Amino acid sequence: MPDLTHFIEQIKNGGVVAFPTETVYGLGADAKNASAVKKVFELKGRPADNPLIVHVASIDEINDFAAEVPPQAIKLMDSFWPGPLTLVFKKKSRVLDIITAGLDSVAIRMPDHKIAAEFISRTGPLVAPSANKSGRPSPTKAEHVRHDFGLNFPVIDGGATEIGLESTVLDLTGNVPSILRPGKIGAEEIQKTAGIKVAAHQEYPVEKPKSPGQKYSHYKPEARIYYGGISGFEEHVLYLLQNESHPNKKNIISYNGNLERLSHDLYDRFRQADLEGYDAVYIEEIESLQAQFPSLYSALRNRILKAIGHA
Ligand code: TXA
Ligand code: MG
Repeated sequence: MPDLTHFIEQIKNGGVVAFPTETVYGLGADAKNASAVKKVFELKGRPADNPLIVHVASIDEINDFAAEVPPQAIKLMDSFWPGPLTLVFKKKSRVLDIITAGLDSVAIRMPDHKIAAEFISRTGPLVAPSANKSGRPSPTKAEHVRHDFGLNFPVIDGGATEIGLESTVLDLTGNVPSILRPGKIGAEEIQKTAGIKVAAHQEYPVEKPKSPGQKYSHYKPEARIYYGGISGFEEHVLYLLQNESHPNKKNIISYNGNLERLSHDLYDRFRQADLEGYDAVYIEEIESLQAQFPSLYSALRNRILKAIGHA
């Protein structure tokens, strides 16, 4: 465990500190300090109409933010917290408007990560969007954060994040819980573990997105992203293949049909493509792995479509 004292002081003084979670690195600021939260929007270049997730270290802490905690939420928290499941509640009026972008709901999650848990338990609840500049791929390593925000930016280094894709966002404010952003925890697992039926994520943009973040193009490197069948290999392209491996070609990478591995590596590969000057990243289709990895399949497909600019 790194020494957190100095980072905790920075948060208490209204500063911004990046920290690791099990999904991606977050850009943390005190969720009860409006000027600290404002700095997060400014640093990221994030549109003001895209709300932030509040991160807590204990279930009790949601009572400062959520106005209503339906029985289903209690079941979900028991089953999946700490973990990569963000829940959207009706908000208490005292929740800072800048966090919720003026919505009457607030998103909350409890990360499953030793450093994050210790950090938040000592700072109090933190807002934490992914610690990338708006539009860039989410950071899965401390060096990604430094690349976007500078070498001297305060980041708690916890090594590479385990999952590599952002949390599932589940809206609990409507009649039926619905997935606004797909992640590692999918509809099947929620049904199986908590016995709750949820509406799966709708891939194509709706007129007025309920999760405002979903309307922005995200997760994008400079390199163009292509997805589908692959025939032939070119030098200036980085290939992410299911199984075919070419040990002597460093631009051809196989993840051995394991979507956990592709999730873990995807954003790092996007960033690698830019750093090493590749023109494009080709991702071989993953449909054939859907049955084996249903939730990661939906999450990856969502991020790939966004990186292409289609969703
Ligand atoms: O895994 C994660 O969730 C990471 C780590 C750092 O915890 N955080 C993250 O935050 O991905 P961010 O800000 O990059 O994405 C938050 C998503 C956005 O799509 C946003 O629109 C949605 O959550 N969101 C936040 N508050 C919401 C609300 N009240 N209603 C609907 N969607 C909300
Ligand atoms: Mg983000």
